[in-house]
Amino acid sequence: MRLQEFATLLRPLAADKSSDRRLARCHSIEDLRMEARRFLPRAVFDFVDGGAQDETTLRRNRAAFEEIDLVPRVLRDVGEISLKTEILGCPSSLPLALAPTGGTGLVRSGAEVDLAAAAGVLGIPCAVSTMSSRSLEEVAAVSTGPLWFQLYLVRDRGRCRDLIDRAKAAGYRALMVTVDTPVTGGRERDLRNGFTLPPTIGPGALMDGLRRPRWALQFFRARMPTLGNFDDRRLGLRDQSVRAAAELDPSLNWNDLEWIRDAWGRPIVLKGVLSAADANEAAAAGVSGIVVSNHGGRQLDGAPASMDVLAEVVDAVGDRVEVLLDSGVRRGADVARAVSLGARACMIGRAHLYGYAAGGRAGVEHAVRLLEAELRRTMTLLGAPSLKDLDRCFVRSRSAFGPHPDPPPRGH
Ligand code: FNR
Repeated sequence: MRLQEFATLLRPLAADKSSDRRLARCHSIEDLRMEARRFLPRAVFDFVDGGAQDETTLRRNRAAFEEIDLVPRVLRDVGEISLKTEILGCPSSLPLALAPTGGTGLVRSGAEVDLAAAAGVLGIPCAVSTMSSRSLEEVAAVSTGPLWFQLYLVRDRGRCRDLIDRAKAAGYRALMVTVDTPVTGGRERDLRNGFTLPPTIGPGALMDGLRRPRWALQFFRARMPTLGNFDDRRLGLRDQSVRAAAELDPSLNWNDLEWIRDAWGRPIVLKGVLSAADANEAAAAGVSGIVVSNHGGRQLDGAPASMDVLAEVVDAVGDRVEVLLDSGVRRGADVARAVSLGARACMIGRAHLYGYAAGGRAGVEHAVRLLEAELRRTMTLLGAPSLKDLDRCFVRSRSAFGPHPDPPPRGH
């Protein structure tokens, strides 16, 4: 029997018809995360879920949101809640965008094509990574919503220039330059799992894959993941990835922004700013936006949570630059907190990847719809009918003010 015929026989197994039922049981991003854990081989799940070294920053990202109380106002007309906004000049149905995530093709074979299609249906922007599994042109061809291109600066400026020109020609609306990755972070879960990019198929990886047949079978039916943007398609994934990682340019500096701006000629966003000083410098350099981000705790372990520095960054730039935030967003209430502190919108990384693992394109939509419903409910309960109404009166830092003293015992 030829491989093709064998794959046809297995197709019904891989069709994953119960995926809708599984999604219907997921009521939070954490539920989707658990579903992703059941679907993905351990090494792939850990690649998505994990952070750098001790994962201190990864944990801080969640703790920082939980440290911010939401303070409701009452007797405000909240009969209609409006979530529409504009992010970097792009209309968006929600204050949310999909963050760039490389290696998405390891989660499911449709990769960024599915993510962009879902974002188009949802009416939110989608950022496509330099390290995407599908080429930026292929993603643009299916997309019905605004796309941003995320750029990693590589040593060969000719290749950067080429990526910029291609993204421009394909109609990408903003260039998101990631500035927190002069080298990749130390991801120890990946080291322990023997996970490498490119993946190596040793006995461990094979067993890991066989334990997750629903995940493995999709690759019978579709292409194996590659790095879609690297021009030499004749190279295998291994050679493409080795080349791409070796080419990350640690000498990137503020002077580079000038030629990038000239080459691009459309809005530029710096992703990975965590200090008021850098935010100021970015504003002076004429960028349109910054993303307060620690790369989801995947780069510098020990870096502050994005939420802990958001207010100081917003205060430093005023209205010179649009401020977005990512890292740790798992609830609609997190988006309300960030917008109250001055962010225009949030980006999500793992939240959409958990959804994608759990249910493909429909899972991405499910993840965003959950966040939307939570945000709507939070704003209703807060007494804030529109995003413009959200301001710092609605938030209160537990650590700044300390916990309320215990009420005195009765009788005093
Ligand atoms: C990322 N992130 C990322 N960022 C970037 O600029 N270029 C990239 O190629 C990637 N790749 C990537 C892969 C995976 C698997 C993850 C989880 C993340 C970081 C991403 O854009 C975003 O900053 C974080 O994911 C935000 O944190 P949360 O939402 O995942 O907590």
